[in-house]
Amino acid sequence: MSKAKRLYIKTYGCQMNVYDSERMAEAMGGAGYVETDTPDDADMILLNTCHIREKAAEKVYSELGRFKGLKDAKPDLKIGVAGCVAQAEGEEIMRRQPMVDLVVGPQSYHRLPELEAKAREGAKALDTDFPVDDKFDTLRHRPKAKRGPTAFLTVQEGCDKFCAFCVVPYTRGSEVSRPVGRIVEEARDLVERGVREITLLGQNVNAYHGAGPGGADWSLARLIWELDKIDGLERIRFTTSHPNDMSDDLIEAHGTCAKLMPYLHLPVQSGSDRILKRMNRSHTAESYLRLIERIRAARPDIVLSGDFIVGFPEETDRDFQDTLDLIEEVRYGYAYSFKYSTRPGTPAAERDQLPEDVKSERLQRLQARITHHQRATQDAMVGRKVGVLFEKEGRLPGQMVGKSDYLHAVHVADAPVEVGTLAQVEIIESGANSLAGRLLDK
Ligand code: SAH
Ligand code: SF4
Ligand code: F3S
Repeated sequence: MSKAKRLYIKTYGCQMNVYDSERMAEAMGGAGYVETDTPDDADMILLNTCHIREKAAEKVYSELGRFKGLKDAKPDLKIGVAGCVAQAEGEEIMRRQPMVDLVVGPQSYHRLPELEAKAREGAKALDTDFPVDDKFDTLRHRPKAKRGPTAFLTVQEGCDKFCAFCVVPYTRGSEVSRPVGRIVEEARDLVERGVREITLLGQNVNAYHGAGPGGADWSLARLIWELDKIDGLERIRFTTSHPNDMSDDLIEAHGTCAKLMPYLHLPVQSGSDRILKRMNRSHTAESYLRLIERIRAARPDIVLSGDFIVGFPEETDRDFQDTLDLIEEVRYGYAYSFKYSTRPGTPAAERDQLPEDVKSERLQRLQARITHHQRATQDAMVGRKVGVLFEKEGRLPGQMVGKSDYLHAVHVADAPVEVGTLAQVEIIESGANSLAGRLLDK
């Protein structure tokens, strides 16, 4: 039998790319490849890329440059670009970086083995179609290997919202939900292989409306209740949600479904109605705040996280102050914030841009407030009893590390538990980026 070829995948961007990289590795497993964690001995290098901000996209070209030596030393080495940069730039990538053999967009991963074969024959292989067949259906060669306690599972992909700053509707295409049956089957398989926590993924995951067994569309909440029935699955999370798709049944599930964790990522982007309108967000700061009130009424201890863009075209000091005010009102447990980055082909890229130093200064001020609330949320955990799912051994002997129900990193000294154990822990200390706890029971 011929020796297995080695595949090195480097993943950038969001969790959906992490999930896709796993699927690609499986698809290539069918074509005789095993994964390797270094590019040095690889027969194929695949960059799974992100196009969301300028820096993210530029990274791809500098990374490709770094592989030149490897390619020169081993002309057989195949280099591929997948993900959102592949979708957005297509052939241009091969023009700019001729050593790229293969370009594959996020909806064509099931065609990866064919593309690889084509590249092996010395041809340039490109596929950035949005095919009608479901890429996930043909990606079902899962080896039954054991895996870690947490997993991502994509249930919905694409976006029809067209926020004025965002490339996702162009790189991932329009919204598609996978059927309930397929998702449940995949979740059961994951649980059989050791997974205890599943995070359901979608660019607009709460807009999920996949076909149920009877043919009618199911909501995300209904899907969550179905997954709740799986023995051995202990925790369910989902991300990313859009404020306008936060339906009543989903809010209610946060209060009533014990497996659904008390953490919600609900990006708002800005606290200024003027800017939200220009962003084409179709919600106001006020409607967002009222929504948060309803979510907190259903689940008072829920930890909220958000995304913010500062320095969007025409953002004034007043608009920025509105964002800071909203942050004070919501008190996020976590937040991601970015300087606005112009993206080719999006409406906001055509508008007058703010100077870089204004963006930087606002970002710094916003991050200071976010850090304050983040720390306060974390400190408030001290003295509380929380569930912790242990994911790995810590740096110190006997120490175990996991995530709390609220997604805080928690470490416990001298913990006689295995990876994959969900245990009750009393939080005893709050550090810079994690909590320390004491095991209560197994
Ligand atoms: N679907 C999700 C988020 C997708 S992108 C949602 O609607 O909330 C993840 C985050 O990247 C966004 O929430 C936004 O804060 C940020 N982002 C997207 N485009 C950006 C741009 N052009 N410049 C800076 N940040 C951007
Ligand atoms: Fe991008 Fe807006 Fe769609 Fe989120 S909702 S993926 S920010 S266009
Ligand atoms: Fe990036 Fe594409 Fe995800 S642009 S954030 S990898 S959907």
